[in-house]
Amino acid sequence: MKKIIALAIAAMFILSGFAALAENGTLTLCTNVAFPPYEFYGEGDEPTGIDIEIAKAVAAKLGYEIEVVDIEFAQCIPGVQSGKYDFSAAGMTVTDERKEMVQFTDTYATGIQSIIVPEDSEFTSIDEMVEANGSVKIGVQMATTGDLYTTWDYEDEGKGTVDRYTNGAAAVQALIAGKVDCVVIDNEPAKNFVAQNEGLKILDTAYAVEDYAMAFAKDSPIFEEFNAALAELIADGTVQGIIDTFIPAE
Ligand code: ARG
Repeated sequence: MKKIIALAIAAMFILSGFAALAENGTLTLCTNVAFPPYEFYGEGDEPTGIDIEIAKAVAAKLGYEIEVVDIEFAQCIPGVQSGKYDFSAAGMTVTDERKEMVQFTDTYATGIQSIIVPEDSEFTSIDEMVEANGSVKIGVQMATTGDLYTTWDYEDEGKGTVDRYTNGAAAVQALIAGKVDCVVIDNEPAKNFVAQNEGLKILDTAYAVEDYAMAFAKDSPIFEEFNAALAELIADGTVQGIIDTFIPAE
């Protein structure tokens, strides 16, 4: 009997979640809108980019609107976990640690952690910088995989320090100001930052290759329908079409 009551309460909880969403019809998407071409401020200062347009396409298919909330990347997972936001689409890498905290949709893009250095740098890897100077100063965006990996590989190993900035643009400004020796960040934003600023280049060696997915709370009432609709838009080429409009073929 107790089991049945518990099940009934759980069912009511789930159904009421659906009802609330359906009534208000808007899904809140949290992200850090400083990560072109995945999220950035476009025409009329409206947030746009690969993640936002894919999320909007999925939402439109399901009859929802999307409200983009611009927060620090470090707050995205806690914000989703606590139910403050419906989901996060933030060029977010799927990792085992994050899977403990949130559930991920199917992956819709590949990311590469790249290394940005001053254009006149003679180094071809971070290890060469360590070798030449005894240590290295690395700039990253706080709580990203670039932060985690370089912390493990360099800071924890006593080979250097990791300076954590609230967004990628700030890390790149620190590189330009000479405060760090390199910046580790996802490849497409890296290309954007290098194009927007003089005197920078990206090293040929990829630091890590990863998958991007959107993150939902483990008890999210809309995860299943959202992921199913996303899977359809991946299968019918809509998602690739969106990616192609933001990343022109080289
Ligand atoms: N892919 C990296 C990660 O998941 C960086 C994502 C940063 N995203 C952003 N919108 N600023 O850790």
